Amino acid sequence: MKHVISVRQFEDKKFIEDIFAEAARLKGLSPSEYPKSLQNKVVATLFYEPSTRTRLSFETATLKLGGQVISTENAGETSSNVKGETLEDTIRTINGYADAIVLRHPALGSAELAARYSAVPIVNAGDGGGDHPTQALLDLFTILECKKDVNDLKIGLVGDLMNGRAIHSLAELLGLYKPEIYCIAPPSLQLPANYLDGFRKNAIDFKQLDTWESVIDELDVIYIPRVQKERFDSLEEYEKFRDSFIVNAEAMKRIKKDAIIMSPLPRVTEIAPEIDNDPRAVYFEQARNGLYVRMALLQALFV
Ligand code: NCD
Repeated sequence: MKHVISVRQFEDKKFIEDIFAEAARLKGLSPSEYPKSLQNKVVATLFYEPSTRTRLSFETATLKLGGQVISTENAGETSSNVKGETLEDTIRTINGYADAIVLRHPALGSAELAARYSAVPIVNAGDGGGDHPTQALLDLFTILECKKDVNDLKIGLVGDLMNGRAIHSLAELLGLYKPEIYCIAPPSLQLPANYLDGFRKNAIDFKQLDTWESVIDELDVIYIPRVQKERFDSLEEYEKFRDSFIVNAEAMKRIKKDAIIMSPLPRVTEIAPEIDNDPRAVYFEQARNGLYVRMALLQALFV
């Protein structure tokens, strides 16, 4: 594997299963037992958009495996981007310093563009409203950890399905399995047609709904990202949709006893903090899993 650009490159379930087996193994080790598989490697995290989990978990993953990190956490303002440098030139330059580049950028297709100019692996950590492949991997890992199998699960993707890149990559990755998918969103925030076509191509049973009333008590997984404020034309438009769906204590009474509530985080208003201590709320564990999945993925880049 050279670059990690989108989940579409993971046609082979075996590759994913190997990553997950290694992530589970790493999760079970104590820190002193971590392999030093990234020794003498430098990983650059080049982030043009805000991040907490993705950047810090990639950096922690690198450090725990004995590698080193160089980082621009606000590359849009503190890198030579401000002086007018193109992404291509920045990537060429960092190729002289780092052995892999983890890139988050607001432009759709930016990771693919970067890969064309990079001899070292590019890992897409989010390209605008496009893809977020490593998030989808840790999401799937968490579903498997909690539910053992994805096939036949009723999975509700809820809220802003139009703009959420985590949702997009997860929708594609689920195409490798046979869950029942419920796309629950206001009509104007529904999952874009190309992902629905993907479900059809993979013979995935899916439904589009604009309320969760008829299915909330049947879902095994409720995946609810925040409404993506930064992708809306106006604050007014964003606020119109922000609270379309809220998982709170009231909703939890109707949700199955063994369901799981997932989010790529950050959460804003769509998940009420009052449910955080409910064992079905797995989003912080999901974020923690990001570390182990990214450790496994970084190792795979360097074999
Ligand atoms: C997501 C992202 O940046 O796309 N966050 C993350 O990486 N965990 C989701 C989001 O910002 O809502």
